Amino acid sequence: MPIGWGIIGPGGWADRYIAPAIKQAKDSKLVAVLSRDKERADVFAKGHGADRGYDSLAEFLKHPGLDAVWVGVPNNLHAANAIPAMDAGKHVMVDITMAVTEEDCQAMVEAGKRNKVKLGVEFQTRHHPGNRELKRLITEGILGDLIMLRAQMSLPWGGGQVSGVQQWKVSANAALAHPDHSWKEVYPMRGGGVTVVGGMFAVDLLRFLAGRDVEQVYAYTDAATAPRGQETLANAILQFQGGVPAFMDCSSRNPYSDNNVTVYGTKGRATSIGGLRLDSEGAVEVVTDRGNIRKEFSGHNMYADEFEEFMRCIRENKEPSASGVDGWRERQINIAIVESSRKNAPVHIKL
Ligand SMILES: NC(=O)c1ccc[n+]([C@@H]2O[C@H](COP(=O)([O-])OP(=O)(O)OC[C@H]3O[C@@H](n4cnc5c(N)ncnc54)[C@H](OP(=O)(O)O)[C@@H]3O)[C@@H](O)[C@H]2O)c1
Repeated sequence: MPIGWGIIGPGGWADRYIAPAIKQAKDSKLVAVLSRDKERADVFAKGHGADRGYDSLAEFLKHPGLDAVWVGVPNNLHAANAIPAMDAGKHVMVDITMAVTEEDCQAMVEAGKRNKVKLGVEFQTRHHPGNRELKRLITEGILGDLIMLRAQMSLPWGGGQVSGVQQWKVSANAALAHPDHSWKEVYPMRGGGVTVVGGMFAVDLLRFLAGRDVEQVYAYTDAATAPRGQETLANAILQFQGGVPAFMDCSSRNPYSDNNVTVYGTKGRATSIGGLRLDSEGAVEVVTDRGNIRKEFSGHNMYADEFEEFMRCIRENKEPSASGVDGWRERQINIAIVESSRKNAPVHIKL
């Protein structure tokens, strides 16, 4: 029996990546769409093969066959949509950034527990095949003990001068592309600049690979001089438990960013080339005493893989790879990056 999905927030991202991923994932079906505008919801529903659109959250949540919901409205509105959905017994996959405030992150995690439903956060880069290979190399001890990690997530995503935002606006169906993205310019609605557009993927992936938590952050951002206080560049040193440091950088100004992830262990080094791009292409290069290996990856869809994993967790009652707690931790670190730069001092993370 396929799992029935609903989309809350049929904007550019849902159109270009989420609805196609739900369609491609096995045993999965898009059934309903919620927008503030019923006509937009219906057009989106028709365009992506869903039953119908709604403009009322309460009515949408009653749609027959609706099991799970993807939430992709402005970040400050995630909790206000995700919590009623969980209270109605629906599983929720919330897009990044999970929420602007830690209080909202906590309330979402509590709603998931209270209702015994799954809460996942869309950190799709955990499902990139090259990053999965890095995780395997670490877990199986092939790289030895971790020494340090490094990750970049900058726009333009993976080469070229066209930004990711332009890429999905250009290629989205013009009839479905949302006309108004102005919330992204409003700090309290998006929750930050490039650290919430890109940097958070680097932070989350480093946590996923290291398999432990960050205890301290020391960072520089250009928020003090950036338009509307939304940073366009951030560099951070994350101190993981066990004394393992990681360096992450993100910027919306880097031309031809590589968006690679590198792990150094006592037995060697491995790099996921393009592991922090928006597509699922890339390669892994491993250098150890046994020599050099390069594996290419293509033909994957990390978004569909992510939805499949989430649905497996629903069926087998397991925690998704990126849970609500992971989303909350990432937001804590993100806030600490901005604070550390403002104070020009390290910031401890309360676990
Ligand atoms: N995982 C990733 O790599 C990735 C990449 C891009 C974006 N995202 C995330 O995906 C989500 C959607 O981003 P997007 O680029 O698709 O944005 P978008 O095109 O602006 O779409 C936002 C959606 O939210 C709805 N919405 C509800 N209340 C709103 C309000 N008060 N102001 C503005 N819009 C409102 C919009 O309008 P209607 O109600 O009219 O439908 C629209 O459906 C965000 O959480 C974003 O951070 C994730």
